[in-house]
Amino acid sequence: MTTKPYTVDELISAKAIAARVEALAKEISTHFADTDKLVVVGLLRGSFIFIADLVRELDLPVEVDFMEASSYGNSTESSREVRILKDLRGEIAGRDVLVVEDIVDTGYTLKHVLEILGTRHPRRMEVCALLNKPSRRETDVVAKWIGFDIPDKFVVGYGIDYAQRNRNLPHIGAVRFTGF
Ligand code: IMP
Ligand code: MG
Repeated sequence: MTTKPYTVDELISAKAIAARVEALAKEISTHFADTDKLVVVGLLRGSFIFIADLVRELDLPVEVDFMEASSYGNSTESSREVRILKDLRGEIAGRDVLVVEDIVDTGYTLKHVLEILGTRHPRRMEVCALLNKPSRRETDVVAKWIGFDIPDKFVVGYGIDYAQRNRNLPHIGAVRFTGF
């Protein structure tokens, strides 16, 4: 896979992410304190590191499940067409569900996923997104918990990729294209 040459400028440090994840987990634990066993649904692949850190800070019994929706392919622009590539293994009817997303950009991915999960009648369903690009929103979808609002920049790291690269960066950085 070829991409234009680029470098990555640090936007959010690993330390800042860890502090924010801890704070989010406290709020989520309080919110779902009466829950029997929370189903935490990670949207693959971008949320895999975030969900791993988040569930370890939750003071709740949790079940972890995953779903994969199609994303940008190798582009930096949303296709606005969302397909489910991998569905949950477990049932969510009557359950409390927390959907964990890496970034809410236009909001099409999340909106589509929430519509599908909503038809399965969860008891409660909330969203926690690590990053939010409010200036890019094209839908009315809302995440109850957001790690950081960020500007309209293409970001990588902490699970998030550009053409399957940079997921293993411990911080979040902005892609800056170099050269001509
Ligand atoms: P949306 O459907 O436009 O909200 O896009 C959401 C999905 O696109 C996210 O789950 C990410 O996987 C991907 N995405 C959005 N912005 C970025 C970015 O800056 N870097 C990498 N992936 C992104
Ligand atoms: Mg995604």
